Amino acid sequence: MSFPRATSRAALVVAVLAMPLASTAAAETFQSVMQGLADDMNRVQSALFVEDFATVTEAAEAIADHPKPSLGERRRVLSAVGSRVSEFRALDQQVHDTAEGLANAARDQDLDQSIRYHARLVNACIACHSAFRDDVVSALSPENAPER
Ligand code: HEC
Repeated sequence: MSFPRATSRAALVVAVLAMPLASTAAAETFQSVMQGLADDMNRVQSALFVEDFATVTEAAEAIADHPKPSLGERRRVLSAVGSRVSEFRALDQQVHDTAEGLANAARDQDLDQSIRYHARLVNACIACHSAFRDDVVSALSPENAPER
């Protein structure tokens, strides 16, 4: 026995549409992801001043595992980035790797290393902003939004 074709196709469509909802709590905009990163960076910095390594570790891990923007938003960002996509991805990867390094240093309660990784992380965030922020902001501005 088999399902009628239309039914199985509909079931497949439903399954595909449900996937992103299952993996992320809410569809994130690129901007809200960035605001989350900034909050976590502020948490790292405040915690470093009082040598609260548990909080540094947790916030650094949140940066390393930051949520992704929604698929549509990612497409628009990537189209703004255009042919420089590998540079964009490398800078994103650098933030992930540096945040992992910071989390490990904080887990070891190594203040000097933590401070070094924190500085590198700030530089990595800003490197991407210098290279890409203007292009992405103008591509994501409301007058360039796709018809809905
Ligand atoms: C791979 C590139 C890239 C990396 C890495 C990156 N950003 Fe961004 N960020 C952007 C772009 C592009 C924008 C502009 C997006 C916009 O405003 O729509 C932006 C905007 C922002 C904003 C402004 C958001 C707003 O409300 O307008 C903040 C804050 C921010 N980023 C924080 C961070 C922090 C903190 C890090 C590092 C932990 C980081 N970013 C790493 C590309 C990056």
